[in-house]
Amino acid sequence: MNGKGNSAVRGAEKPFLKALAGEASDRPPMWLMRQAGRYLPEYRAIRATVSGFLELCYTPELATEVTLQPIRRYGFDAAILFSDILVVPDALGQEVTFVEGEGPKLAPIRSAAEARTLSADWIRQRLAPVFETVESVRSKLPDETALIGFAGAPWTVACYMVEGGGSRDFTEVKRFAYQDPKSFQDVIDVLVDGTIDYLCAQVEAGADALQLFDTWAGVLPDDAFAAYVTEPARKIVAGVRAKHPDIPMIGFPRGAGVGYARYLDQTGVNGVSIDVAVDLDWAAKTLQPKGAVQGNLDPQRLLVGGDGLNAAADRILTAFSDGPFIFNLGHGVIKETPPEHVEALVERVRGR
Ligand code: CP3
Repeated sequence: MNGKGNSAVRGAEKPFLKALAGEASDRPPMWLMRQAGRYLPEYRAIRATVSGFLELCYTPELATEVTLQPIRRYGFDAAILFSDILVVPDALGQEVTFVEGEGPKLAPIRSAAEARTLSADWIRQRLAPVFETVESVRSKLPDETALIGFAGAPWTVACYMVEGGGSRDFTEVKRFAYQDPKSFQDVIDVLVDGTIDYLCAQVEAGADALQLFDTWAGVLPDDAFAAYVTEPARKIVAGVRAKHPDIPMIGFPRGAGVGYARYLDQTGVNGVSIDVAVDLDWAAKTLQPKGAVQGNLDPQRLLVGGDGLNAAADRILTAFSDGPFIFNLGHGVIKETPPEHVEALVERVRGR
């Protein structure tokens, strides 16, 4: 780790940002979703020193360290801020806890009255430790490494807020959206406002690019996808760009299928992160002419490793070689993944 620069000129030399600016490359930039996390022994060591997961997110010194761990090990082209999408509901006034082995828990919001308890006014104050982490990571990253800030997209965050945690079938959040669309829209609107503020503050602290995670976009029919996925993303991109016109943004409407094309057309993002099910040739033909493509190795390939991993990585590299492309997974690194498999993947992608 040497340089400390973050000027626009230096930024333009980062391979990750070049891809988002529309440039193709023989050696595509790479990073992995959930590259910081439980598959790394050095992450588990730090995680063991805090009582809860959110404490890690809200302690800048520790969050900085775990953000940098995968960069030191693998030299990825981008670091992603270590935090979580659920810090936003926590800051809106709906307390979030992470129960060991069970995932996130929230007291669910399912009525107009409960929706009114939320406020986007406190984002900057309550999430100050996150912005401090961004600043501290930025000062420690090599010049050629980009720093990605992120947020959950309104639909996905609302899924956790209304369900009160993870879900299989999204019964409660769909019931709320379909039975009382006006109050549900209030929840989406407060998330749009809070997310714009949250992302702007990350840019102001030193993030070079932003990613919007819409993990559960794929469970919606097309009309609801337009209302709760595409339209909020369009508003967030426009709201962030009103303050920071040049900030590159990636959208990840996971499971969107052919909806990826409309999302890319209508939201104003510079690129999309595609999930494992997206057809490679379709994406190269339909998406790459309009923006950068990021993806989409099956995380399970990385877990298994070996020749199958190499072959799967090669297919992706070949399919996207003619346009702007960022090598990544189609979803996050699985926690049982051997770190040596990640090493092998980096060599495969870099060695070409
Ligand atoms: O390396 C990175 O990608 C940066 C950090 C990051 C985390 N979560 C850390 C984390 C990012 C970008 C996220 C995003 C996130 N969080 C998403 C969207 C992307 C996706 O994976 O679909 C979602 C849906 C969440 C919500 C969330 N956070 C859940 C459901 C859980 C519990 C499930 C689990 O894996 O245990 C988390 C916890 C979480 N977020 C962990 C990490 C490293 C594990 C918690 C721990 O260490 O105890």
